[in-house]
Amino acid sequence: MAKIKRATFGSKVGVILASAGSAVGLGNIWRFPYETGNNGGAAFILIYLGCVLILGLPIMISEFIVGRRSRANTAGAYSVLAPGTPWKWLGRIGVLTAFLILSYYSVVAGWTLEYIVEATTNSFVGKSSSDFITSFITFSSNPWKPILWLVLFLLGTHFVIVKGVEKGIEKSAKIMMPTLFILLIVLAICSILLPNAGTGIEFLLKPDFSKVTSSVFLSAMAQAFFSLSLGMGCLTTYSSYFGKDTNLTKTAFSVGIIDTIVAILAGLIIFPAAFSVGIQPDAGPSLIFITLPNVFQQAFSGLPALAYICSVLFYVLLAVAALTSTISLHEVVTAYLHEEFKITRGRAATFVTAGCIFLGIFCSLSLGVTKEYTLFGLNTFDLFDYTTAKIMLPLSGLFISLFVGWYLNKKVVKAEITNDGTLKTFLYHIIIFLLRFIAPIAIAFIFINELGLLK
Ligand code: PFF
Repeated sequence: MAKIKRATFGSKVGVILASAGSAVGLGNIWRFPYETGNNGGAAFILIYLGCVLILGLPIMISEFIVGRRSRANTAGAYSVLAPGTPWKWLGRIGVLTAFLILSYYSVVAGWTLEYIVEATTNSFVGKSSSDFITSFITFSSNPWKPILWLVLFLLGTHFVIVKGVEKGIEKSAKIMMPTLFILLIVLAICSILLPNAGTGIEFLLKPDFSKVTSSVFLSAMAQAFFSLSLGMGCLTTYSSYFGKDTNLTKTAFSVGIIDTIVAILAGLIIFPAAFSVGIQPDAGPSLIFITLPNVFQQAFSGLPALAYICSVLFYVLLAVAALTSTISLHEVVTAYLHEEFKITRGRAATFVTAGCIFLGIFCSLSLGVTKEYTLFGLNTFDLFDYTTAKIMLPLSGLFISLFVGWYLNKKVVKAEITNDGTLKTFLYHIIIFLLRFIAPIAIAFIFINELGLLK
């Protein structure tokens, strides 16, 4: 399998598409807006952009170096580059994180399928803001429906992983991704033109630093790791299929820029609309599912056909963006089981799918029938999100930066960044400096600050 996949990433467009397909997903369109809403708006976005630039990009380049140099799955990669050392645990923890994220991510991915059905059957028509809130709560707390969609979504991901139809996915992504991009721009314009949209734009652009607390920093860092697919070996696995001439720094910048633009566009759609129809920006995970149907209804109120097309198209494209991300998460775990335990790829994928369905059911039920059962005040869904995004990803990022910055032979790092000396070296020095000092210190600082040890 590994060999087949390596061949498919021959083209530069393929490399960027596969990595951007993993990065762009629910993290940008669902998670980014609600985290921005929960953390006070523009100040959060500024800190987020800082995290992308000084933590995200160098760590993405590190993952690329580890993957392309070792040409192995993420757990195997550390064994190849640091044989007989505990560094292999960095890869293994990444696999576990990918498995846990896939379990709760698929719950939300499943919701997009329900909304495709609602959009196609014209169920948004004539509803008020409070109707959208009620119908989301009724749906997400129903014990059966979300589970059905979750299972369906994971089976879809499983099908792609087993069939290995990367080519099909790549081809469709080439059409779907630009379409999603254009639709996001159209919706952002519509949202900005809604009455009273100014308050939402101000919320997005005018930073209020009085709202910045230690947890805002932690949330912004977590969001950067989550959105860029960092810290769990996803990009390590993908870069093991990169060609020798792939420019790692350029690829990382392209992925970072695409990912950030999509997130900002999502913010430009959600907040003007939310303020326009009187929905609180801190509505949490339900935010896009209650504000967007409103945008479709209000912005195109005189043009029902356009409202219909846009809403169906939006949820279909959102589901596709989620699918390219679930595939990359699934691939991390499947490749690990397949290569490290020598079981067939089909069997490895079945274990992953069955395990994620099992855990996903708990996450889904925790938003309804079992919501009283909490740990540290969090239900299972939120607990999975908090533990993975806010603890496991940044910690892995910290160790990846230490691995490439301090442990790995500098000749190897330089050869990878400069493609054996054929590219300019000035970026190499900046990247090494960021990896050695800035990234580890910044991540450690954010953690220590969150624990309240600095007060
Ligand atoms: N980056 C994806 C998103 O923003 O939706 C989520 C994700 C995919 C996280 C793959 C991690 C990963 F390995």
